[in-house]
Amino acid sequence: MYILITGVAGLLGSRLADWIVENKPEYNIVGIDNLSGGYIENINPKVIFYKLDLVSNSLAEVFKKYKFNFVFHFAAYAAEGLSPFIRGFNYDNNLKSTARIVNQCIINDVKRLVFTSTMAVYGHGEKKIFDESQVPCPIDPYGVAKYACEMDIKIAGEQHGLDWCIIRPHNVYGIKQNIWDKYRNVLGIWMYQYLNNKPMTIFGSGNQTRAFSYIDDSLEPLWKSAVEPKASKEIINLGGIKSVSILEANKVLKDVIGDGKTIFLEGRHEVEHAIPTFKKSIDILGFNHKTDLKEGLSEMWSWAQNQPKRNRFIWSSYELDKGLYSFWKNPSKL
Ligand SMILES: NC(=O)c1ccc[n+]([C@@H]2O[C@H](COP(=O)([O-])OP(=O)(O)OC[C@H]3O[C@@H](n4cnc5c(N)ncnc54)[C@H](O)[C@@H]3O)[C@@H](O)[C@H]2O)c1
Repeated sequence: MYILITGVAGLLGSRLADWIVENKPEYNIVGIDNLSGGYIENINPKVIFYKLDLVSNSLAEVFKKYKFNFVFHFAAYAAEGLSPFIRGFNYDNNLKSTARIVNQCIINDVKRLVFTSTMAVYGHGEKKIFDESQVPCPIDPYGVAKYACEMDIKIAGEQHGLDWCIIRPHNVYGIKQNIWDKYRNVLGIWMYQYLNNKPMTIFGSGNQTRAFSYIDDSLEPLWKSAVEPKASKEIINLGGIKSVSILEANKVLKDVIGDGKTIFLEGRHEVEHAIPTFKKSIDILGFNHKTDLKEGLSEMWSWAQNQPKRNRFIWSSYELDKGLYSFWKNPSKL
């Protein structure tokens, strides 16, 4: 039995592959990634790996060859705050590539497609707490792309009988996360900054709240999203049950490191409070929040200190400079 993981060199993809190799050895994993945001070293040696770009390759041959039972479509560029400045790229990479995956799942009778959407689809949220029954209203192109993918997948379910499960993870962090990208993964950015003798940066006041989720707690639920009958055609928030402010998160990391300086930058166009519900993930996927922020950050920090010195990922130009924040106009700083 074969399963496909797209984005297999990234955080969720590589760690889910490790989990499946260890816990479900009866499945063979095929992994696809263009290595734009993940690293070859992250990929489990048992994975049959194809370096392919989902924007330029339909994947028809790979789908035909392996006849996948399940597809986990994780590949995306998840730089939410940057997405208004790389609009075209965002829609090509995150939306159009998903449409091609959906085509292949329909053609090849895949048993279920698992798609990782995002908390960003909620935007500011209809209610204070984001629950899955709300009508999404994203406030950035990244969220719009993911919401469009969700709708497209639902249509494929209605019209072509494709089974699916849509997961909306929140602020996942942990070992194998990209800490070298200047535009995403706040906890990883702070680790990179500290390791490179730069101050840790916070956009705006730092009173924004986020529910951080340690990757290890999400792995079995991600697997269940493919195989659990109750997860069929469900949208499920997945991740940490406690929201903390960015200021608090920064303090926890500085406690873990035992050092660190923070500076404040201009605020961004972003959601102030992202507080998701988690009941559905417990009821359907057996989610269990085992790892608190301090413990998760301690493990990630031990790993980060032993990583190779990699070049930081910086866009050489953007599609749009109008309205661009000063800290991204001068990318060599911070
Ligand atoms: N990590 C989070 O906090 C979080 C939160 C919500 C949603 N998500 C979603 O979960 C998924 C996985 O996130 P992650 O944190 O593992 O990200 P990641 O950047 O670590 O991994 C994504 C992988 O996809 C690959 N990729 C990107 N574009 C590609 C393309 N065109 N062709 C082939 N490969 C491509 C990258 O090289 C990378 O290895 C994404 O869809 C993301 O939007 C993540």
